[in-house]
Amino acid sequence: MPKITFKDLSGNSKTIEIENGLSVMEGAIQNDISGIDADCGGGMACATCHVYVEEKWFDNLPKAEDAEVDMIDMAHEPKKNSRLSCQLIITDELNGLVVATPEKQS
Ligand code: FES
Repeated sequence: MPKITFKDLSGNSKTIEIENGLSVMEGAIQNDISGIDADCGGGMACATCHVYVEEKWFDNLPKAEDAEVDMIDMAHEPKKNSRLSCQLIITDELNGLVVATPEKQS
């Protein structure tokens, strides 16, 4: 299973394995990753699954749909490498992906 690493602002990191087909958010929730709230359960209606994708990965991800981009604007301190983790679906190509959780979720 692909390994995904979550970092927080304190420099702590945790690497978990997430099954293909699940979202990064679903893997985070199943593995008790702190900093991912996912209040809407993946419906792209809350932006509380916001993450910053490590730069070298960002351009290789499928592009965000307009609706995701709009929702990212509602997130706490969005940056150009922001994504909603509920919209990042795990495939073998994402093995090694590194994301950082923001200071807080909106
Ligand atoms: S879980 Fe609500 S937008 Fe991702």
